[in-house]
Amino acid sequence: MANPSLLILAGDGIGPEVMAEVKRIIGWMGAKRGIHFDVSEDLVGGAAYDVHGVPLADATMAKAQAADAVLLGAVGGPKYDKLDFSVKPERGLLRLRKEMDLFSNLRPAQCFDALADFSSLKRDVVAGLDIVIVRELTSGVYFGEPRGIFKEGNERVGINTQRYTESEIARVAKSAFELARKRSNKVCSMEKANVMESGILWRDVVQEVHDRDYPDVELSHMYADNGAMQLVRWPKQFDVIVTDNLFGDVLSDCAAMLTGSLGMLPSASLGAPMANGRPKALYEPVHGSAPDIAGTGKANPIACILSFAMALRYSFDLGDEATRVEKAVEKVLADGLRTADLMGPDGGTPVSTTQMGDAVLAALD
Ligand code: NAI
Ligand code: MG
Repeated sequence: MANPSLLILAGDGIGPEVMAEVKRIIGWMGAKRGIHFDVSEDLVGGAAYDVHGVPLADATMAKAQAADAVLLGAVGGPKYDKLDFSVKPERGLLRLRKEMDLFSNLRPAQCFDALADFSSLKRDVVAGLDIVIVRELTSGVYFGEPRGIFKEGNERVGINTQRYTESEIARVAKSAFELARKRSNKVCSMEKANVMESGILWRDVVQEVHDRDYPDVELSHMYADNGAMQLVRWPKQFDVIVTDNLFGDVLSDCAAMLTGSLGMLPSASLGAPMANGRPKALYEPVHGSAPDIAGTGKANPIACILSFAMALRYSFDLGDEATRVEKAVEKVLADGLRTADLMGPDGGTPVSTTQMGDAVLAALD
């Protein structure tokens, strides 16, 4: 059988710097574990604009559609700030998300023991935390019609519409249940069915998908405002949380900060299953191109490395290998290695991007 294909789009700023460390891990997987990927690389964002005059060339889009998974670094930077909106680097990423129809956004909150004191919450509350928020990404109040600012009598009225179809809810619910089966088999769905009709439908459809196709997964429902409180009070009660676009935006940012630095946060965006059964998938760190530290060797590569680990687990069914990578990250952190973003005010000596990559590779060995 052919090797699974991986398209790497490193992008701009620190994107290529953190991606370089992931490429070394991919090399390690081949050499030491006999796991080979057909890796191809292409341009996205400002890097693509510089060559093609657009932030994502059609040929690159086609490669992304055909790949088993896409791994993206980051896009953007001050050099491109004055560009027309239609060719801004971010448009390249938006085009990928839209044309691949990536409706399910996975945002893990994973707290490595060595960083538990870095959280704003107590060590006990966050140490060992490992949850994933699944946010619906392509519908809901950010897209619903009617929308706009209108005149009503002699004042203005601002309108947005929360709109979800049954099929939109069902597909993201499925994606959450599939995910749960690769984890600890537990899903909590969050909405506001107490005050919103779209929330009532959300709750009903999630329950129906569960009862029909995933009765083995433990399902609970929670109002999203209570969910926010519970996330901060005792996040370890959750495993997979599935929620709509708006609540997911807020809850995922909140959950992310339970664990510390932006330089640690991976993400995945999944779409419909392809002919081979794998979902369309884009993996990327949550952070941007960090122009303030680009070129200085200060970037933390862990967010990008953990994004690759997510690809191993969720696109390639290589959960054991994903765990291996996560354990290696855990070990280097436990050994005290810190990039600059992980240092408190009293400091110590930070390691560089490559030194962090070296250490993760050594830990993998
Ligand atoms: P940013 O995430 O690039 O940086 C925010 C802060 O976090 C900066 O101080 C940066 O140095 C630090 N930081 C980020 N990642 C880090 C890492 N791996 N290691 C250590 N420190 C890290 O967000 P910002 O500054 O708002 O945006 C910069 C550029 O990135 C803009 O052009 C923006 O449009 C773009 N951007 C791109 C995203 C993407 O590609 N998905 C997401 C967010 C922003
Ligand atoms: Mg947000």
